[in-house]
Amino acid sequence: MKSLAVLHASQLVTLGGPNRPRVRAEMSELGIIRDGGMLIRDGKIDSVGPSDEIERKVRDAEIVDAGGRIVLPGFVDAHTHLVFAGNRLDDFERRARGETYEQIAEVGGGIWSTVEKTRAASEIDLLAQAKKHADWFLGCGTTTVEAKSGYGLTVEDELKILRVMRRLSGQTPLEIVPTFLGAHAIPHNRSADEYVDLVIDQMLPRVAAERLAEFCDVFCERGYFDVEQSRRILTAAKKLRMKLRIHADQLTNSGGAKLAAELRAATADHLEKTDEQGIEAMKSAAVQPILLPGSVYSLGSTGYPQAREMIEAGLAVVIATDFNPGSSPTPSMPMVLSLACTQMKMSPAETITASTINAAYSLNRGSDIGSLESGKLANFSIFDRKDYRELAYWFGVPPTHSVYIEAKRGH
Ligand code: NIG
Ligand code: FE
Repeated sequence: MKSLAVLHASQLVTLGGPNRPRVRAEMSELGIIRDGGMLIRDGKIDSVGPSDEIERKVRDAEIVDAGGRIVLPGFVDAHTHLVFAGNRLDDFERRARGETYEQIAEVGGGIWSTVEKTRAASEIDLLAQAKKHADWFLGCGTTTVEAKSGYGLTVEDELKILRVMRRLSGQTPLEIVPTFLGAHAIPHNRSADEYVDLVIDQMLPRVAAERLAEFCDVFCERGYFDVEQSRRILTAAKKLRMKLRIHADQLTNSGGAKLAAELRAATADHLEKTDEQGIEAMKSAAVQPILLPGSVYSLGSTGYPQAREMIEAGLAVVIATDFNPGSSPTPSMPMVLSLACTQMKMSPAETITASTINAAYSLNRGSDIGSLESGKLANFSIFDRKDYRELAYWFGVPPTHSVYIEAKRGH
């Protein structure tokens, strides 16, 4: 493969630093090189530095002139529900009339309505829709997404969704990290405990045997899966060598963050209702919080998670889109950066760390992606902006110029 040289970034935002997730003041250290450049060989970063230094090493490399724009590691979106059929326009309209997420779910909307559409869809149709979503992510400067199943809720339908992810991986440059979320809702024809047995006895072994998911997730929430049921599922997944994530404390403070700590989960996600004890528990077990302000915004709530308290407690905070048809229909990480600054009082620099290097570590990929450092994959986005703070500042305007994955143009 030919080498590539990126030159003349107004700011090359490297995120260079220690080989671990960043905490406290480290979250504000972006390792910016002004008029920066990078030399890339075989899809990996060889060196980064001032443009004139890189230019001297160029030789036969193809040149990408960033033209005074900013260059960052591709966003790593560590929480999405990428594969589903249809949309939830009716739920959206009902919420605009004042009904709540839980009320709408009780009367036939909610997750269940997407499950019905997803079960009815063919693999080809699901793949086509997922491919469209993948293009949206790339267009927003994201180069890796975690993707959860969870709109099937039968053995075959959950496997269908995970297989769609696998096929999609071969058809898009976007990197997809699959998570099994069979415990996303309780199907109408079963009791919760019966369904938990089905997840443990029939779904998890198949998912593990076909190596269809790296992580297992559970929606631990009132009306969904309680702490004991979540513990059973996640413990079974752990025995199958899957790593863990948990939808925790989104609508009620139901003990999800503490369970994540007890089970040494990689992440606890949402955390809108998590209290100080939950934060302490996560800290004691190095669980990474994944905050999803897009879902708070889209549900029309103002109860954002306590990002500042979490950063001050030394947690390696991540932010993600929660892309899904019900509570967060956005693939846009720049939008999430904006919400994180305005609603959760994170600084622009902290939001960049939370959506790149910290997110990469939460997906067990911290040594390959999430920063622009020698030896890492050349996954980067060029944005039509001069200062990285503009990503969070201008909202509602897509800022992307171009996106590269392993040095190949992906958008
Ligand atoms: O993360 N909370 C559970 N799951 C999604 C919502 C899924 C849906 O409403 O379809 C979330 O917000
Ligand atoms: Fe979610």
